[in-house]
Amino acid sequence: MTEETRHELVKKAMDMRKFSYTPYSHYRVGAALLTKNGKIYGGCNIENAAYTPANCGERTAFFKAISEGEKEFEAIAIVGGPESGVVDYCPPCGVCRQVMMEFCDPETFEIILAKNRDHVKTFTLKELLPLGFGPADLEK
Ligand code: THU
Repeated sequence: MTEETRHELVKKAMDMRKFSYTPYSHYRVGAALLTKNGKIYGGCNIENAAYTPANCGERTAFFKAISEGEKEFEAIAIVGGPESGVVDYCPPCGVCRQVMMEFCDPETFEIILAKNRDHVKTFTLKELLPLGFGPADLEK
């Protein structure tokens, strides 16, 4: 991936935070998911008064893309932090990692964590979910 694309994803993830619905945690997460054919789907976290129906920013982006026919993904950028501003990296929760495992190649799918434009760390899904259980395991 080019540096330009990486910056574009990080910027989109930052921008998506403004749509987060977080009256309970006040912690806003934005995500930008890149498909293999170059489209970008944004996502934000959406909370609920009953708490458990909350959806993470990453899964919002995945479900938007999948519900529009996308199945192949290259990377996701994630930016999260309190309403007052991002102070640290926001690693994806375990449930989101498992959703990524369903649709992405763990060896190549890139998870880009950013605090701002200049503080960016990239991991493969395999690094964040070693020995993950995925669709291929059901074939064994
Ligand atoms: N959250 C995400 O959207 N993504 C993550 O990877 C971690 C947590 C959300 C869920 C909830 O709305 C808020 O952040 C606090 O946990």
